[in-house]
Amino acid sequence: MSTATARAYPNIALVKYWGKRDEQQMLPAAGSMSMTLDAFPTTTTVRLLDEPAAGSSSSDHGDVFVLNGDPDTGSAARRTSLFLDHVRDLAGSDRPARVDSHNEAPTGAGLASSAAGFAALALAASRAYGLDLDPRELSRLARRGSGSATRSIMPGYALWHAGTDDATSFAEPVLPDGARMPELRLVIVTVDGRPKAVSSREAMRLTAATSPFYDAWIDATAQALDEMVAACAREDVEAIGRITESHALRMHAVIASTTPPVRYLAPASIAVFDEAAALRRRGMVAWATADAGPNVCVLTTPADAEQVAAAVAGHGQVRIVGPGPGATVVDPTEQTQQEDA
Ligand code: DP6
Repeated sequence: MSTATARAYPNIALVKYWGKRDEQQMLPAAGSMSMTLDAFPTTTTVRLLDEPAAGSSSSDHGDVFVLNGDPDTGSAARRTSLFLDHVRDLAGSDRPARVDSHNEAPTGAGLASSAAGFAALALAASRAYGLDLDPRELSRLARRGSGSATRSIMPGYALWHAGTDDATSFAEPVLPDGARMPELRLVIVTVDGRPKAVSSREAMRLTAATSPFYDAWIDATAQALDEMVAACAREDVEAIGRITESHALRMHAVIASTTPPVRYLAPASIAVFDEAAALRRRGMVAWATADAGPNVCVLTTPADAEQVAAAVAGHGQVRIVGPGPGATVVDPTEQTQQEDA
């Protein structure tokens, strides 16, 4: 096969990945855990070319990258080509490719996701180059593009094992087959949709290099992950929420302790954390978390989701999401329909 289309969804980490032990191999300093969402997918088609694309250069390895219908020649295109190099190495191919990617996150919602993007690219590219990878191998491949993409290969709740080398750093379902996770929802509150000033990759590097608290953060993450897996296994929503919120605040604390300092949370973000605490005092399930940006997700139950959404609506655009599918191969005509739409 020389053309394949795949779709993947973003994920929100409940135990965060923030720090690498090996940037070249994209090995994290600690494990993490997330919910793959049922909204905002990225759909990507990879088509192998017989010769370098017209207008491509040696820096893009003859590849061409088209994002939401617009050719891209910037850093996203370079990252895509570097990623395709891993796939070409695995497949023993040197053919360039055209990559068409569509991201369904609304522009300006602050949800554009490298996790969904590289998970979809890993699956589509591996198929286009003739590889037949199992989910574990796919998650290892997606990791090369972006750490968080490792988890978006998996449906529902994914645990990314830190591992010690390429073979052992992969994601899999948090609980074994047949075990039940409690029903959870996330209320996404988009307080500011602008692109962040400092990328996760850069701020992560800075944290490891300059924070006096970095080692403690990594130790605390490993411990939070153990506690989280145990809380999931006993379907303890309260503990899942508590670990989620306190772990997120610890991540923002370690980020704020870098030199020069980086701060992602805005006053409106803090207001949503306060709102979650107020909802808890009223007996509801509401625990806040935020990634490397000002937007906040409130973890809740299906029963409380509408009320939580109504309570935080004053702070930004809200959307209730739940656990979604892993990366899947899709019919390429679906992408054509989107392009035509
Ligand atoms: C705060 O996966 O975007 O969302 O591996 O350098 O591409 P790179 O970083 P990325 O970082 C995600 C950071 C986070 C936490 C998380 O998703 O676990």
